[in-house]
Amino acid sequence: MSKSIKHGSHKQDIVDLSLSQQVDDYYEAAYLPDDADAAYARKIADDKRLPPIAVSPLHGKFLNMMVSITGAKRVLELGTLSGYSAICMAKALPDDGKLITMEIRDICVDLAEEAVKRAGLQDKIDILYTPALEGIEILIMDEEEAFDLIFIDADKPNYHRYIQAILPLTRSGTVIIIDNVVLAGDVVEEESENHSVQSMRKMNNFIAGCDQLEATMLQTTGLKGLDGFALLRVK
Ligand code: DHB
Ligand code: MG
Repeated sequence: MSKSIKHGSHKQDIVDLSLSQQVDDYYEAAYLPDDADAAYARKIADDKRLPPIAVSPLHGKFLNMMVSITGAKRVLELGTLSGYSAICMAKALPDDGKLITMEIRDICVDLAEEAVKRAGLQDKIDILYTPALEGIEILIMDEEEAFDLIFIDADKPNYHRYIQAILPLTRSGTVIIIDNVVLAGDVVEEESENHSVQSMRKMNNFIAGCDQLEATMLQTTGLKGLDGFALLRVK
């Protein structure tokens, strides 16, 4: 339990996560080659005592494979942290591929720049030091070409805004992956006053009512406790 990330919920105490953490460790050892670049992004975040909220190594590989499977050339990420997921995804981009990631915390931007440079991915990854909603507005005003894949992993209380704001940056077929949609189970609390829960539920209402989007959700356990990804496709 000690490694799991809590969202202030007691719900995931009901689930014994120690076994799923062991399973994560087993599959990480079985499937993942050591990636020094990605490990470095995690290490410098740990050294600065940032919360351990980057995607897990297996989920980093999931994101990497989503880029390769979809053949994405243009990726947008909201929420850089120390660049771990950006590095995982950018490694699957073709030579002319581009990943734009947005981050509001200067300490994270500094760390991510360091990690991206060390990985030799500075030509593929643009880190924008901006609140995501403003960054999205700028991309729209610049008439930026549509993104093939978008990963939302920023501040949860704005998720309902992000899902609407990014739509002008999509095309038919754009894949949208959203992290942390389970919130340790709190997402089911209709009456919750927690801003993350409220925003997640508003986002889900929007998705449900949006003719342009189809969606499913993959619930996850493991290193980061009870959580999940939403997977969306723009029709
Ligand atoms: C938190 C944020 C994340 O993006 C995550 O994957 C896990 C936890 C958090 O803010 O607690
Ligand atoms: Mg996350």
